[in-house]
Amino acid sequence: MKDSLLSIEDLVVEFKTDVGTVRALDGISFELPRKCITAIVGESGSGKSVTASSIMRLLPGSASSSGAITFRPLDGDPIHISSLEKNDPLLLHLRGGMVSMIFQEPMTALSPVHQVGDQVAEAVLCHRDVTRDEALAEAATMLSRVGIVDAENKMHQYPFEFSGGMRQRVVIAMALICHPQLLLCDEPTTALDVTTQADILVLIKSLQQEFNNSVLFVTHDLGVVAQIADRVIVMYRGQIVESGSVREVLKTPKHVYTRHLLTSVPGMKTGKKPGGFQAWRVDDWKLDAAMGSNTTMSGPFDGHQVREFKQ
Ligand SMILES: Nc1ncnc2c1ncn2[C@@H]1O[C@H](COP(=O)(O)OP(=O)(O)OP(=O)(O)O)[C@@H](O)[C@H]1O
Ligand SMILES: [Mg+2]
Repeated sequence: MKDSLLSIEDLVVEFKTDVGTVRALDGISFELPRKCITAIVGESGSGKSVTASSIMRLLPGSASSSGAITFRPLDGDPIHISSLEKNDPLLLHLRGGMVSMIFQEPMTALSPVHQVGDQVAEAVLCHRDVTRDEALAEAATMLSRVGIVDAENKMHQYPFEFSGGMRQRVVIAMALICHPQLLLCDEPTTALDVTTQADILVLIKSLQQEFNNSVLFVTHDLGVVAQIADRVIVMYRGQIVESGSVREVLKTPKHVYTRHLLTSVPGMKTGKKPGGFQAWRVDDWKLDAAMGSNTTMSGPFDGHQVREFKQ
C-alpha cells in the first residue's frame, strides 16, 4: 500500500542468548495507515515491544534482523529505516522528530535531576532551530495542553514531585512537541491506576485527532483496543495471526486464536458490557484454559513450546 505511513515487510528479529537463539519476530508484515490509531494486541512475549522497538531501531546489540521497514513522511522521500546505519543523521532526525515513542514507565524517559520544563524544551531544541526561550514557551503551552494545571509554575519542578499520571502526561508532551507523524505507545497506561489510565487514553485519542498523526498502540488489554483503536493487529508468538478494523476483528474474529482471546474476556460470551478495562486483560492462564482442547503443544521452537491451532 503506497499511501500508508509505514510498511513492514517480512520482519524477522532474533536474539542470541546463552541458551540459544530466540526468534522474537517470525516474518511479520503489515501496513500502518495515516491518521489513525492501530493497536497491537497479544499475550506477553508475543513480540509487541520488539515490533515497536524495531521501528525506532532501538533493539539491543544481541538482536539481528532482516526484512524491510519503510517510513513515508508526508513531505519527503520514503525512508528505509531498516537499512540506515545506527549513527545515520537521518535516524537521529527521525527519532523524536518524525517518530516518537512512549514507554510503560515514564521515568525511563525522564531525567530525575532536571526540571520538567527544561526536559520538554530540550526535545524542541534537539530538532528545531529555535531559541531556548521560545522552546520553553512551547513547552509550557504543550504541558498545559496535556493537562498539567498551572504549567508555567510546574515547569520548574522535578519529576519526583509529580504523580505517575502527571509524569506520563509530561512524557506525552515531550513525545508530541515536535509533531511527529507517528507516535509509538508501548503499554503507556499499564503502570497507572484504572482512573488515570482512562484519562490518559482519552488524552492520547484527543491529541491524535487534533494533530492528525498515526499512533501504534501496544497493549495486552482488549478493553483498551476497543476504547482507543481504529485498527488492530493480533500477534501470537512472533507472528501476526489476524488484522483489520477493530469493529470487524472484535465482532467477527476470523482466526481461532483471536476467538479464544475474546472468549477469555469476562462478559464477551454473554454479550454483557465489561465492568472496566482491567476485566478485559488477556491473562495467559485464562487463555490457556479457554484454548484447552483446541490446541496441541509442539516444539521446541527457539527455546519455546508452541501451541498449534486446530481450525
Ligand atoms: N533483549 C532480549 N534478549 C533476548 N530475548 C528477548 C529480548 N527482548 C525480547 N526478547 C524475547 O522476544 C520475545 C518477544 O518479546 P517482547 O518484549 O516483544 O514481548 P511483548 O509482546 O512486548 O510482551 P509483554 O506483553 O510482556 O511486554 C520474547 O520471547 C522475549 O523473551
Ligand atoms: Mg512489551
